[in-house]
This record gives sequence, C-alpha cells and structure tokens, in this order.
Amino acid sequence: MAKAPYRSFFYPMHLALLSVGENFMPLAWWTPVSKEPFRFLFAMDRKNHTLSLLRELEEAALSFLPWEEREWVVRSGYLSGRRVRKADRLCVALRKARRLERTWVPEKALAVYEMKVQEWPLEGDHALFLGDVLHVEGSPKAKGRPILFLGFRDYATTGETWRFRP
Ligand SMILES: Cc1cc2nc3c(=O)[nH]c(=O)nc-3n(C[C@H](O)[C@H](O)[C@H](O)COP(=O)(O)O)c2cc1C
Repeated sequence: MAKAPYRSFFYPMHLALLSVGENFMPLAWWTPVSKEPFRFLFAMDRKNHTLSLLRELEEAALSFLPWEEREWVVRSGYLSGRRVRKADRLCVALRKARRLERTWVPEKALAVYEMKVQEWPLEGDHALFLGDVLHVEGSPKAKGRPILFLGFRDYATTGETWRFRP
C-alpha cells in the first residue's frame, strides 16, 4: 500500500507542556483517548531526551499554560534536558507533582494531569505513550487563552467563541 508523505494541514493543535522528572518540553501531539479509565495518548520523537526519561521513570505530567507564558514554553522545545537544566536556564519555578514520585511541574500551570505512563509499541519516528491519569487539578481559566500551535514557528490564541444550542 502506497503511503502519503507527511503534511501538516491539521494544525492548530493545543500546545501542552510535558514534564518528566525535572525536565519539560512543549508537546503538540497529544490527545485524550478514554474517560473511564481516564487516559491520554501522546507521541514522543525518538530523538528527545524525554523519551529516555519516560522509559526510566514511567510517569509524566501534562500541563497547560496561559498564552502569556508562551515564550518559555516554546523555548523549552529548542533546548534539551540532555544538556541543560531547563528550569534554571528559562527561570521557571517548579513545584513537586502531588501523586508522582519524581516529577516536578510549573507553578504557573493552569491545569495539570499527573499520569503513570506505559509505552504502546509501534514503529515510526515517534514512540507512543499511554498515560493513565492519577491526579488532576486545574481551573476553568485553562480554557481561556490557550497556546495554539499553528506549525513551524507560528502560534495563536482564541479570538472568538461560540456556544452551540441544539
Ligand atoms: C511547538 C512545539 C511542539 C512540539 N511538539 C512535540 C511533540 O508533540 N512530540 C515531540 O516528541 N516533540 C515535540 N516538540 C519537540 C520537543 O519539544 C523538543 O525536541 C525538545 O527540545 C525536547 O526536549 P528534551 O530533549 O529535553 O526531551 C515540539 C516542539 C515545539 C516547539
């Protein structure tokens, strides 16, 4: 079967921050996949240091930062935890996750999902991980001014909302 080349017409994606241990990175390729049990799925580039951390610690936190914090969130995707401690380099205050043993999350996160993760083996340039949510905390403000990734180096936040009334 002939396979099509990658094309990114599906953007925007809601940008999250994935923390594993004391490292973190922006993550666009994530999605909820189950309510009961509550689970997320996300794709991790095999070149990222975070891949080794996920395999070692088997835990992660998915968090959401407001538009105002976008500069350091994005910049953390141009640094590797293999070489630098991003929290120090970017002056990001972290606090301990509530239920995870080794993971720290940004103090400014508006919503945090703490997960136990397992790899879902599949070939491809990204590894897939399923995260079972152990603890959630957040505020409705997290929906307010999200960081939306448009692809390449472009970002947006929401400008207009609409409530459907059936
Ligand atoms: C906007 C944005 C979205 C990204 N989304 C993903 C993603 O979904 N999956 C992924 O593996 N890498 C993604 N990356 C790349 C990682 O964040 C980047 O490679 C990071 O430096 C990895 O850090 P680490 O080496 O400390 O793990 C994204 C980067 C940016 C800037």
